[in-house]
Amino acid sequence: MTDPELIRELNKVLTLEHGHLGMYKDFLDYQEKDIRRTFRRFMEIEIEHINKLKNVIMNLGAKPSLLIEGGDIVGQMLGISLNISSTRGVLETLSFIEKKSHQGYTDFVTKLEQDSEKRSQFIAEFVASNMLEAKLMHLWLEDELKNH
Ligand SMILES: [Fe+2]
Repeated sequence: MTDPELIRELNKVLTLEHGHLGMYKDFLDYQEKDIRRTFRRFMEIEIEHINKLKNVIMNLGAKPSLLIEGGDIVGQMLGISLNISSTRGVLETLSFIEKKSHQGYTDFVTKLEQDSEKRSQFIAEFVASNMLEAKLMHLWLEDELKNH
């Protein structure tokens, strides 16, 4: 992978992570305490994901830059809208998005692992933790759906 390709991929993932942050940042809007607490922590995890990606990009000597600045990133990039009128609907949508995120990370990590550049292996290990946490969030959302 060339530098511009790698940086573009990382900026795309960074943009999606900003979209994820947008899904949880209004955690106070939810009725149930369990959901408020969990979404607050998920928001913190998404901030960690963003910071990790920013660090990788900056350590490659590039500037983190979003493909879409502000607004409804998830809506624009994935064509999905979040309707918070039903908790079940929210949980289903978020679960789908986290599943997609895990899949996207899996593809990205595999691509990095297959790359001949040594540094790609290091970056793969770095972003693999984001991949795992997308999976954990997906599983929590699926489990929570059993109660709704
Ligand atoms: Fe994330």
